[in-house]
Amino acid sequence: MFGARCLLLALRRCSSAPCPKHTQAARLRVCEALEAQELAGDIKVQGWVRSVRSQKEVLFLHINDGSSLESLQVVADPTLEHRDLTFGSAVEVQGKLVKSLHRMQNVELKAENIRVVGPCGTLTFPFKPRERQPLEYSRQFPHLRCRTNTLSSLLRVRSEATAAIHSFFKDNGYVHVHTPIITSNDCEGAGELFHVRTSDKVQKPGENSHFFNVPAFLTVSGQLHLEVMAGAFTQVFTFGPTFRAENSQSRRHLAEFYMVEAEVSFTESLQDIIQVMEDLFKTATSIVLSKCPQDVELFHKYVSPAQKGRLEQMLKNKFITISYTEAVEILKRAPQTFTFQPKWGSDLQTQHEKYLVKHCGEVPVFVVNYPYDLKPFYMRDNEDGPQHTVAAVDLLVPGIGELCGGSLREERLHFLQSRLERLGLADAYQWYLDLRQFGSAPHGGFGMGFERYLQCILGVDNIKDVIPFPRFPHSCLL
Ligand code: 4AD
Ligand code: MG
Repeated sequence: MFGARCLLLALRRCSSAPCPKHTQAARLRVCEALEAQELAGDIKVQGWVRSVRSQKEVLFLHINDGSSLESLQVVADPTLEHRDLTFGSAVEVQGKLVKSLHRMQNVELKAENIRVVGPCGTLTFPFKPRERQPLEYSRQFPHLRCRTNTLSSLLRVRSEATAAIHSFFKDNGYVHVHTPIITSNDCEGAGELFHVRTSDKVQKPGENSHFFNVPAFLTVSGQLHLEVMAGAFTQVFTFGPTFRAENSQSRRHLAEFYMVEAEVSFTESLQDIIQVMEDLFKTATSIVLSKCPQDVELFHKYVSPAQKGRLEQMLKNKFITISYTEAVEILKRAPQTFTFQPKWGSDLQTQHEKYLVKHCGEVPVFVVNYPYDLKPFYMRDNEDGPQHTVAAVDLLVPGIGELCGGSLREERLHFLQSRLERLGLADAYQWYLDLRQFGSAPHGGFGMGFERYLQCILGVDNIKDVIPFPRFPHSCLL
């Protein structure tokens, strides 16, 4: 409700902002104006014109400022029309909120003054009024696409999802840690690293070429740093940029993405980690759906009509758990042929992951206990055989495949030491071995790809459409 408190806040905002002509008008965001219950005095709205309709007796505008999907209708005397008042222009409108006669909206702004702050060259502006462009088209304009309804909805959902993830961990007693972006470790050991160097072209003789005296890379995961913190805090998480030099043409991979990672101490059960993954997914998604229903609905209506039902199924049902060995058996029995033949000891491919999810009734599936030789050095040895596995877990979700990857960590010094020695990494990871000597507690954790999570909520097929700035095919990175 737009009560006295809201108006007071708006008035305060106005008094701190430069407001040359109309110092008396309270500045309201469009979402505040749309929800106004009391039609208080003069107000001012700033935003971008989404439509202009000029009739003989009246001029209609729609103004959007990014605060909601819905725009505010402005009604004005045609004498206020101006040559620069076009679709896309930045404007400041001052007037009075009045009850709207239109049944779709509660209020409208009766303009007394319209100021075009920044005109927009409509002929060359790549977006047109009332045209819903495909996401592929908008991707060509990474610097302008946030002005479309679809991308602004996406960005609000992304913002709410970020807050929901933080609030899930905060409410459950986790400590947030900023893990380094520049690091020497290759946590996943997959060699998909971006090397960080200074831009100096000429290296003086005898000079160490490394800024930090050792090779430095952009992080592929904050996990090892979280494990450090899990030696002092029983529950920690990080949520930050992550970099992988992988195929940028894929619909599920980015070179720069955000990862949510959690680490829990004093657990010997993979089930504890699985529970956190499921709770995080369901809680954060429910928050997002309740915070920005219209934005999510836009995607479910125009971009991916099947996703609404899928998401409801995911939220309603308990996620399923199967072992990697069972997964391979299911794939071998599948009536379809795969490009990559399923075989115990080989990685599951996206086509396998999607089949498994379908086989399990389009419900998210945890696949646990992967082959020892497939997974990174830090995963806990299950000491089984002859098919030797580690306590790893991947969460596979409908339409996407892998959303999360996690494991119990190898906390036993001698197991870890001999594995690192076999890999020739024992010296580089001496600090990591130290963690197992000083008050080592069994622990585990996981990482969730934030962009894949957004794809899963909204049903967006290409991962480049859920990031603020797509990188490809532009030669100039924004
Ligand atoms: O499975 P991954 O590689 O796991 C780790 O990095 C662990 N160290 C995390 C941990 O246990 N703390 O990556 C985790 C998730 C994947 O499941 C996937 O969703 C996402 O990160 N991901 C990517 N998302 C977009 N583009 C890429 N190139 C991605 N690589 C991984
Ligand atoms: Mg993985």
